[in-house]
Amino acid sequence: MKHTITILIYIATALATTLPTFSMNSLKTAQDLHSYSNPEQIRVRHLDLNWEVLFNEKILKGTAVLEFERTLTGNHPLILDTRDLKITKVETSSDGRQYSATTFHLGKADTILGAPLTVQLPPAATRVRIEYQTSPAASGLQWLKPAQTAGRRQPFLFTQSQAIHARSWIPLQDSPQVRVTYNARVRTPRNLRAVMSAENDPATPTDGDYSFQMRQAVPSYLIALAVGDIAFRPLGQRTGVYAEPSVVERAATEFADTEKMVQATEALYGPYRWGRYDLLVLPPSFPFGGMENPRLTFATPTILAGDKSLVSLVAHELAHSWSGNLVTNATWRDFWLNEGFTTYLEGRIQEAVYGRARAEMEAVLGRQTLAEELATLDERDEILHVDLSGRDPDAGFTSVPYEKGALFLRHLEETFGRDQFDRFLRGYFDHFAFQSITTDDFIAYIKKNLLDQYPDKAARVSLDEWINKAGLPASAPQAMSDAFSRVEQQADAWLKGQMPAAAIKSSAWTTQEWLHFLKYVAERTDTAKLRELDQAFKLTRSGNAEIAHRWLLIAVRKGYEPAYPRLEEYLTSIGRRKLIKPLYDELVKTPAGRKRAEAIYRKARPSYHPIAVATIDQIVLAAKQ
Ligand code: BES
Ligand code: ZN
Repeated sequence: MKHTITILIYIATALATTLPTFSMNSLKTAQDLHSYSNPEQIRVRHLDLNWEVLFNEKILKGTAVLEFERTLTGNHPLILDTRDLKITKVETSSDGRQYSATTFHLGKADTILGAPLTVQLPPAATRVRIEYQTSPAASGLQWLKPAQTAGRRQPFLFTQSQAIHARSWIPLQDSPQVRVTYNARVRTPRNLRAVMSAENDPATPTDGDYSFQMRQAVPSYLIALAVGDIAFRPLGQRTGVYAEPSVVERAATEFADTEKMVQATEALYGPYRWGRYDLLVLPPSFPFGGMENPRLTFATPTILAGDKSLVSLVAHELAHSWSGNLVTNATWRDFWLNEGFTTYLEGRIQEAVYGRARAEMEAVLGRQTLAEELATLDERDEILHVDLSGRDPDAGFTSVPYEKGALFLRHLEETFGRDQFDRFLRGYFDHFAFQSITTDDFIAYIKKNLLDQYPDKAARVSLDEWINKAGLPASAPQAMSDAFSRVEQQADAWLKGQMPAAAIKSSAWTTQEWLHFLKYVAERTDTAKLRELDQAFKLTRSGNAEIAHRWLLIAVRKGYEPAYPRLEEYLTSIGRRKLIKPLYDELVKTPAGRKRAEAIYRKARPSYHPIAVATIDQIVLAAKQ
C-alpha cells in the first residue's frame, strides 16, 4: 500500500515536470508572428518600471523589473522584444531583493520586429532586472519641443505602443496575449505632470516624482505614459479630462457627455471594470484619432469641434474598455476582434446617447469609407482574419477590420434580433473578460452560444464568408439616413443650377451632413462651383478638422487654388495620420501636386510623429526618382 502511494506520487511528479503546465488563467499560447517572446515557456506577469524622463537627450533612462512564471518546466531562457534599446545591465533574482548579474544576448535587429533580448535564467529565478535607456528615435515615443505644444512653454512627451511599439521603450514580451499588471515610478522636470494608463490622482502635487499602479492585467500595447504641462478638469464622478491648460476648458465642454456614454455602455454590456475613465487631449501631432489606453484614453485635439459633433471618437475609445481592453485580440491577425466589435459598439453608444438618426449618419459615412477603400485594396487586405506574415501590423491598418467587422456584427444583430444579440455580446464580454483570444476562439464561442442555439437563423449567416473571404458579402446590411437623402436633394438642385449655393438650407446641418454633402458633390464640381460654395460657406476657413479635410481633398483634386495656403497650414499643424495621408496621396497624383507635397512635407515632417513619418515618407519620398 505504502509502496503504491510512493509510486503514484512519483508518477504524478514526473507528469508534472514533463507535461506542459499551464497556469490557471493562461489560455493556450497563440502563434504571434510579431513577437520573439516565448510565453509558452515563460510568462511575464508583472512589471516594475522606474524611469527618468530626460527631455534634453530625448531618452527614458531607468530599469524594468519583470516578474515571471514558468509555463513549461525546463531550463528555458527568457526572450524579450526590444527595439533600439541600449541595455546596460541584466540581473536576476529569486526573491526580489538580492539581484545578481546574468548573461544576456541582444540579437540582430529586424526592421519590423526589432531585436530579441535573450536572458539566461538560474533555475530559482523569478525576476529579471534590466537597466536600459531608449533611443531618441524610439518608434513609440514622441518628444515635442515647447513650440509644438499649445502652451509653447514646456516640452511634451507621449507614448503610442499599439501595435508593436511598446518594445521601443520597455523590454518586454510584446504580444497582446501576454497580460501584465504594473507599477511605475517616473521622475520628470518639476512642474510637469506625468500620467499613465493606470491609477492617476489628479490631486497629486506636480513635484516631478510620480508613482503609478495598474492592478488590472493588460497587454503591452496598452501601456502608456505622457508628460507635459497637463491640467485636469472633472467631467463626472468617475470621468475627467486632462489637457494643456489652454485646451482643458474647451475639452471639458466638448466631452460633457462622457458620463452618459459610460452609463449607456454599461446598460448594454455590463459594468465598466476599470475604475475611472479619463481622457487626455494631446498636442496635434498625435498620429491617431484616439488610443484606448486603459483608464486614460489618448485623443487628438482635432475632435474639439466646439459642438460635440466629433465625439463618436470618445464613444469608440470608451467601447474598447469592453472590446479590446477587457477581451483582447491575441495576435494582430485578430485585430478585427478589437476594432470591428468596437466600431459596432461605438454605433450603439451613439444611438443611445444621440439618437438613431445620428448613429445612422455615422454608419453611412463608415460604409462609404469602406466602399471607397475596398476599390483600392489588395484582396488579402479585404479579409477580416488577415494574413500578416512577413508584414508590419501597421501595414494591415485599413477600414476593413473596423467597418467590415462592424457590418458583420450588425448582420448578426439583424439576423438574431437585438435582444438575442445583446445578450450574446454581454455573455461574450463576461466569458472572456481579461483574456486575449484568437479568431478561432471567437468562432468556437459564437457557434456554441448563438448559432447552435438558433439553427434556423444561423443558416443565414456564413461565418466563413465574413471572416475568411475578400470583399463584402451580399448579406452586408445597409444603413439608411433620411437626413442624408434630404442633403442629396438640395445638392442635386444646386448642381443642376436650380438654385445658388447660398440658397442651400444648411444652417441646421450637422458635421455629418456637411461631410455627406461634400462627398456627394465632389465629383460633380469644378473650380467655379467650389468658389461659389466657398463664398457661401467659408469652407476654406472651416475650423472643423473633418470638414476642412474633406474640402481640402476636393480642392486638391479639382485644383482649387484659393484653398492652397489653408492646405499648407493644415498639413503643418495637424499630424493625425487619417487626416493628412489622403491629402498627400491626392497631391502626388500630379507633377505640380508632388512638388507642392514635397515642399509642404519638408516643413511639416519635423513635427510629425515617427508613425506618421513612416507613412508619409512612403508617399512623398519613396516614389521620388
Ligand atoms: N486602437 C486604435 C488606434 C490604433 C490602431 C493605433 C492600430 C495603432 C494601431 C483606436 O481605437 C482607433 O481605432 N482610433 C481611430 C478612431 C476611431 C474613431 C475609428 C483613429 O485613430 O482614427
Ligand atoms: Zn479602435
